[in-house]
Amino acid sequence: MSQSPYPRLFSPLVLAGQSLKNRIAHASISPRFGAHQGLHPNYLHYFVNRAKGGAAMVVSDPIGIIEQHGLERLRAWDASMEGDLRRLADGVRAHGSALIGQVQDTGRGRHVPGRAYQTHSASALPDDLSYSMPRAMGLGDLQKFVAQTVQSCLRMQRCGFSGIEVSAGHGHLFHQFLSPRSNQREDAYGGDLHGRIRLLAEICQAVRQSCGTGFIIGVKLPGDDGVPGGIDEHQAGQIAQALVAQVAIDYLSYCQGSHHRSLEMHLPDDSYPRQTYRGLIARLKALTPGVAVMGLGRITDPAEAEAILTDGDADLIGLGRSLIVDAAWPRKAQAGQASEIRYCVSCNTCWKTINQNRPMGCDNNPRLAQADELDDTLAPAEHPRKVAVIGAGIAGLQAAVTAAARGHTVKVWGRSAEVGGKTRLLARMPLGESMSSIYDHQWLSAGRLGVQFALGQAVTADEVLAWQPDAMVLATGALMTWPMDLPTDLQGLVPDLRQAMAELLRSQGPQSGTAVIYDLDQSDGTYVAAEYLRDRFERVVVLSPRETIAEEVVLVGRQRIHRRFFERGIEVKTWVDPVWTERFENEGCLQYRSVFGGPLQDIENVAFFAYASPRRPDDALLGPLQAAALPLTRVGDCKIARDALAATAEGHAAGMEL
Ligand SMILES: Cc1cc2nc3c(=O)[nH]c(=O)nc-3n(C[C@H](O)[C@H](O)[C@H](O)COP(=O)(O)O)c2cc1C
Repeated sequence: MSQSPYPRLFSPLVLAGQSLKNRIAHASISPRFGAHQGLHPNYLHYFVNRAKGGAAMVVSDPIGIIEQHGLERLRAWDASMEGDLRRLADGVRAHGSALIGQVQDTGRGRHVPGRAYQTHSASALPDDLSYSMPRAMGLGDLQKFVAQTVQSCLRMQRCGFSGIEVSAGHGHLFHQFLSPRSNQREDAYGGDLHGRIRLLAEICQAVRQSCGTGFIIGVKLPGDDGVPGGIDEHQAGQIAQALVAQVAIDYLSYCQGSHHRSLEMHLPDDSYPRQTYRGLIARLKALTPGVAVMGLGRITDPAEAEAILTDGDADLIGLGRSLIVDAAWPRKAQAGQASEIRYCVSCNTCWKTINQNRPMGCDNNPRLAQADELDDTLAPAEHPRKVAVIGAGIAGLQAAVTAAARGHTVKVWGRSAEVGGKTRLLARMPLGESMSSIYDHQWLSAGRLGVQFALGQAVTADEVLAWQPDAMVLATGALMTWPMDLPTDLQGLVPDLRQAMAELLRSQGPQSGTAVIYDLDQSDGTYVAAEYLRDRFERVVVLSPRETIAEEVVLVGRQRIHRRFFERGIEVKTWVDPVWTERFENEGCLQYRSVFGGPLQDIENVAFFAYASPRRPDDALLGPLQAAALPLTRVGDCKIARDALAATAEGHAAGMEL
């Protein structure tokens, strides 16, 4: 019997005759560290670290299975990559974990800007998100596809992979065959349910036949794709039942959403409940008795995972983002150190970075995919020094924690009485709550490492220098710039959104009238604030001179914003600017006009008006500190105003350089 506080989570599970040491699986993640031209070190570290951290099963990103899968993937169809496949499998197995290769083809699906022009699908119908037009695959194409896939799976098996997971959800090719909306074929691969599942079933059968009963075959199915005329819960159940009736499947998992405006469903954020799909998955599980089912979707805490298993809602726990942020999640949970876990903040920065074709980044894990990601200690500094950090937001805190972990003596000065900076303000609003995990973890680590704090006062350069530091880190954040198209004599009268929210949060309860945000910023905090205002005011209007809103927000977040604004009646007026007239001061009527001209329009009864705009570094202390001629680094917004990812990454880098 395990000594862990989570006995079910740390009990073994047998799949295809292979014993998994616990119930934790790393859900497939494409980290975009680059697998071409040999295995990129970060790619290898990423997957091996998840095994080292204790996950019993690690599902890879999609492996290249057919010749069209090119340089961006690790390729199993390509004999020259055998050495790399082996190194990955050996690395994962060395930690007692099973490596599962994901089998996937995107078909017509595309979620980066623009259309794809050389894609295939079940039918020649446009992708619901990108409008990419595929060609319909012919019977010869399908035979070749199945044959090549089997050869690729055999190579994975020879190289030490324990099994495969066929990704048949997320709007990719197999999903396109499964869904009546995208599959309108009239041959054996279309029509009724049995025709639509034929391609998936044939692949699973052929792999089973070639790779044997000891090779794990998992399938990720759509649980509810949120697409009209697509796959709802009822259809998902029918697909699962028909599939397991035809082939021996070792585990099923379910994902939601598709390449459609429902894409947001696959990465539920703070606007969705925790363990978002637990009920749905439990109901689907009941339809396929005897087949292990993976619970997946915003499971962040070991206690949640344990309860899901204990209640019989799933047999295995899939963790996607939770293991991106902390590879040691399983190890910490097993040791009863759940409070040490760095929790996922559901910001979806990970997905944003890969969607921009950048290597995956994480707001709450600045050491992501580094060789030493799991080490409790960092390489000690050659010359321990006194380091002054000015600014107690997440950039400054990270610099302080990293520097202290390397043996430096660190003192942090913060203007507010509490740490966290603007992230704390965000976390005080319902849709930003999870973000507190970033500074909470930093604060705990700083305490453990003996970092000194002077909070609640604006410090001067002389006061910092009086402490006689050897090096300094400036992390004083950024300030919103005054909107170019508002008269400057209104400065002091019209607050920026942060000031206004900080003020509003001092009170509670409903407010009469309308709240208006003049949105020149387009980043997520503005819309989190808009939703909070909707909780308090009778009406909320967002005015923007740009063509849309939320341009800085990751696609899945943008979908959430547009959907929720619609559902909650938050009004958006684009291509407009407010026009300052005396009617605002006299009668609370804010006027605005199209950026192209035309008549003034009115918003009556305005009780709250604030602007959100691009920010400039708040670096007033830079000159006076530079005069001391000591090593000085600027980090986060104080260098160039950006996002939480830049803040924690730069804070950590500064701490490492000292
Ligand atoms: C950055 C990122 C990349 C992902 N890449 C894949 C992928 O390649 N294949 C796949 O099936 N799912 C992929 N997913 C989806 C996850 O496997 C999982 O279904 C989703 O993140 C929900 O689980 P979570 O709430 O535990 O993160 C990805 C998710 C993220 C955040």
